[in-house]
Amino acid sequence: MLPPVEQDQTVAVLQSEYWSTVQSDLLAKRCCCMVLPDQPVTQITSVPYVVSMNAAYQLYVKKTGYNKLGAVWVDFCSSKLHYRQHAARIRQEALIKAIGVLESKATLRVLDCTAGLGVDGFLLASAGCQVNLLERSPIISALLENGLYRASQTVSLSHVMKRLSLQMIEAKNYLKKLIKQQEFDKYDVIYLDPMFSSQANTKSAVKKNMQYLRDLLPVLADIDLLALAYQIARYRVVVKRPRLSPLLNSDLIPTSQHIGKSNRFDIYSKKSLKKKN
Ligand SMILES: C[S@@+](CC[C@H](N)C(=O)[O-])C[C@H]1O[C@@H](n2cnc3c(N)ncnc32)[C@H](O)[C@@H]1O
Repeated sequence: MLPPVEQDQTVAVLQSEYWSTVQSDLLAKRCCCMVLPDQPVTQITSVPYVVSMNAAYQLYVKKTGYNKLGAVWVDFCSSKLHYRQHAARIRQEALIKAIGVLESKATLRVLDCTAGLGVDGFLLASAGCQVNLLERSPIISALLENGLYRASQTVSLSHVMKRLSLQMIEAKNYLKKLIKQQEFDKYDVIYLDPMFSSQANTKSAVKKNMQYLRDLLPVLADIDLLALAYQIARYRVVVKRPRLSPLLNSDLIPTSQHIGKSNRFDIYSKKSLKKKN
């Protein structure tokens, strides 16, 4: 007999009039957490976070009780992202430069092993990359799935959304499978943006989305992720780090770096993207 699955004590699914009990039960099963009946989030004390559906059919996560922290959901239609997506501005993004979008004439196939709330993946797809997103957290991948679905219904974004796909999976397992099957031609660039401890960075520690991710997700050692990614990427692996933090794996030295105001992109290059066709 399999051992009983441990319930997640940090989050519960909150029923609401905007989704059916079948939907909320399914999500609770996926996230291994309990279901709470519809009630004001401020009155909940049994768990620190809830996931629920609002009137705009946005799946959101919200801190319970009385606090100033607003809800978080995935919003690819936000004016902030719309501004960053602009063709001329997106070329200036450190992420786009680090991935090598401007160096290659052909479409880049990118594997984003740490999808999170999907912002980086969305920017890469907006810049023309074909992006496969991997996310191991059932809660975060559910938020992302909901955001991807809503954005795919928006006509002006449909061309970008066609370039994005999502899988809920531990990236290390995904990469190990590719290595076992000798699939070394699937991705040009692999992108990693692992969680980091709160001491490592000051600026992003205050951002709401980051605060939610830190509280909801364990920081697991992801050192071997880089070595696995390096075996699979055809051209390069790019790792996002807080600007002043140590290398993800001190045994692997990046070939170059893009340093921004609060983040740094470490590039582990295998061959030049200029040769890609
Ligand atoms: C810092 S966030 C990424 C933020 C993302 N780049 C964005 O733009 O929203 C890290 C995310 O990667 C996920 N993650 C970390 N290591 C992972 C792994 N080995 N496999 C799959 N997902 C992973 C975490 O669950 C978390 O949601």
